[in-house]
Amino acid sequence: KEIFEQPQAIRDTLESRITKNTVLVGAFGPNANKIFSQIKQVQIIACGTSYNAGIVAKYWIEDISKIPCNVEVASEYRYRNPILQDDTLFVTLSQSGETADTIEALKTANKINKNINTLCITNSAESSLSRISDITFFTHAGPEIGVASTKAFTTQLAGLMLLALSLAKSRDLNPVLRGRIVKALRLLPETIAESLLSKEQMIEIAPNIANKDNALFLGRGIFYPIAKEGALKLKEISYIHAEAYPAGELKHGPLALIDENMPVIALAPESEIAEKLISNLEEVKARGGTLYVLADPSINMDVKAGKLVHMPKCDFFMTPIVYNIPLQILSYEVALLRGTDIDQPRNLAKSVTVE
Ligand code: AGP
Repeated sequence: KEIFEQPQAIRDTLESRITKNTVLVGAFGPNANKIFSQIKQVQIIACGTSYNAGIVAKYWIEDISKIPCNVEVASEYRYRNPILQDDTLFVTLSQSGETADTIEALKTANKINKNINTLCITNSAESSLSRISDITFFTHAGPEIGVASTKAFTTQLAGLMLLALSLAKSRDLNPVLRGRIVKALRLLPETIAESLLSKEQMIEIAPNIANKDNALFLGRGIFYPIAKEGALKLKEISYIHAEAYPAGELKHGPLALIDENMPVIALAPESEIAEKLISNLEEVKARGGTLYVLADPSINMDVKAGKLVHMPKCDFFMTPIVYNIPLQILSYEVALLRGTDIDQPRNLAKSVTVE
């Protein structure tokens, strides 16, 4: 249900925050623009799925607004002595706004340097995280009940794209690119709706994953965090061991794992490094691995007993969001076949309010 609510969730997140071709100055509240124009680096902190959203954002922020961005898991950040400069925008990401590690990491940051500016992107406007942040961006995903985060992730990404655009706008950077991205964002609910149609193909693939003990997810560049998110979803709800790798790392170790019992799920959008990814996938094929490839319609490759699924055509900046949808559906269908409790996986809580 929550997977299929994503087109509307994105509409609600974007509502009153963009016009036809620009992000509104007030999208992050009245004081944000002044702060955005002054900061010189971004530090993102989060856990789990929210952390994966943060890694996607690093690519967008550095690419679109040319501001250096670091991303770290909250549970590690809070226990080291990080260097935080005055002109840092410290961003926490949290669906619940109540995750203990993320709250403590923010408190640690405020202790290290009280001159930093803090922004939280959360689905709970009245949360503890929001109360201790300078700025709150509310994602409007609606209540998310499933322990495995889906629509909260997608709406976080929409919010993070608005952040990248707002940072660029505060510096008058890349106006043409910004206009193009806003137009693509407006089309995003329909593109996600199209992407949901991949359900039929995921139902075909699911039995080949459900009867295995392991799975490998591959992506390159901004698709590495999407591969990570795909692996996390599969682990959480089907209890299959899954790992994600940037495909170029294969030959540095994980290629040794490849045989007929290791399904490989790969993300192959049209990009500058698509050819390199394809040659990484050929290496998998040559070692007997079965490939399930989500690809741009322009990409054709022989996947033998595996499956090639063509994704809807969309602006490159929207592809991480669009390609993540079939991965959510695939995990759901695999879990359904294995008879696990999809909404409430064993050993997990929706909101991790203790360490
Ligand atoms: C996602 O599917 C997880 N259940 C989990 O990783 C979650 O994203 C993490 O605990 C962070 O939660 P938050 O976004 O509420 O802070």
